[in-house]
Amino acid sequence: MKALVLSGGAGTRLRPITHTSAKQLVPVANKPILFYGLEAIADAGITDVAIVVGDTENEIRQAVGDGSGFGLDVTYLRQEAPLGLAHAVLIARDFLGDDDFVMFLGDIFVFGGISDSVDEFRKERPDAQLLLTRVANPSVFGIAELDDMGRLLRLEEKPEQPRSDLAMAGVYLFSPAIHEAVRAIGPSPRGELEITDALQWLLERDRDVRTTVITGYWKDTGNAADILDVNRRVLDLIEYRVDGDVDENSEIVGRVHIDAGAVIRGSRIVGPAIIGPGTLVEDSYIGPSTSIAQDCVIRNSEIEFSIILRESAFHGVRRVERSLVGRNVRVSVGPRVPVAHRLVIGDHGRVEFSS
Ligand code: TTP
Repeated sequence: MKALVLSGGAGTRLRPITHTSAKQLVPVANKPILFYGLEAIADAGITDVAIVVGDTENEIRQAVGDGSGFGLDVTYLRQEAPLGLAHAVLIARDFLGDDDFVMFLGDIFVFGGISDSVDEFRKERPDAQLLLTRVANPSVFGIAELDDMGRLLRLEEKPEQPRSDLAMAGVYLFSPAIHEAVRAIGPSPRGELEITDALQWLLERDRDVRTTVITGYWKDTGNAADILDVNRRVLDLIEYRVDGDVDENSEIVGRVHIDAGAVIRGSRIVGPAIIGPGTLVEDSYIGPSTSIAQDCVIRNSEIEFSIILRESAFHGVRRVERSLVGRNVRVSVGPRVPVAHRLVIGDHGRVEFSS
């Protein structure tokens, strides 16, 4: 069995972070979201993996390399534009051959991995098997309608009037039957080859398409609020470990992970939180559900329930909450008078001031 991991796409919902970097590499507890997926694939006993990449190919190649760090053998497939999930299957035909495979979206997070579903698929060998999850806002997902016996009746992409709250979770198990389906369908109104349409094509030809409803925590990390939520959940499970240099004027409370090479001076850190190597936290407060990546400087500031990417600096800022801050960002306090805000923000940025 092989794996096809989708890490192309545009990432419009995560702008401006995705103007300069891949959304699949946004870190959760200081580890790129994509790595959790690759680990789940390795745990399921799969080693042969192709990663579909787009404009952010170089960055993804640099982060994942040949996959040996995960126990995987990784090949890269360039998709010239984000033409849809079924298009990704189409361009992977040579890599996939006639093997069964798991298709995994590089920006989703599934607690508990995929091993059970992969084992079930290997045993039963239906034409396709989809992981489903219950969602509160079904009209923005691909939605499955099941009958009373749990059999799949119909699939619909982003329906205006959803017939259920069961969304496709971004993990699909396929036999080679999917190749005929992705060749048979045409582009959707939004111009993409939809995997939903390919699956519906199989269903209409009475092929064996099954579903598994996952009950554990799942998230599509499409926007900043979702990423902060996944970060909070992952940090809830971290262990207390202080390898960095913490002076006696600092206080560490609860489950806090401070990497070797981090320096904490005169600060209070309340977990769950993680501080990356090479980061300096001085005269500051870091609150729960916060990940601060490597080589940051936090001085005279208060940060809580946030993700700060590497090489960013905060000086004299109180108080930052529910924020996702990119790489190499500078946040500081301007002069008191005149009363005005000075901003240098990328396209599509979002800023909220307290009124
Ligand atoms: P989406 O979240 O559906 O699309 P997107 O990445 O373009 O994001 P946005 O809606 O914010 O613009 O994509 C799901 C995953 O699949 C994500 O990891 C990107 C990847 N993908 C591809 O690799 N190729 C594609 O053609 C598409 C549509 C997505």
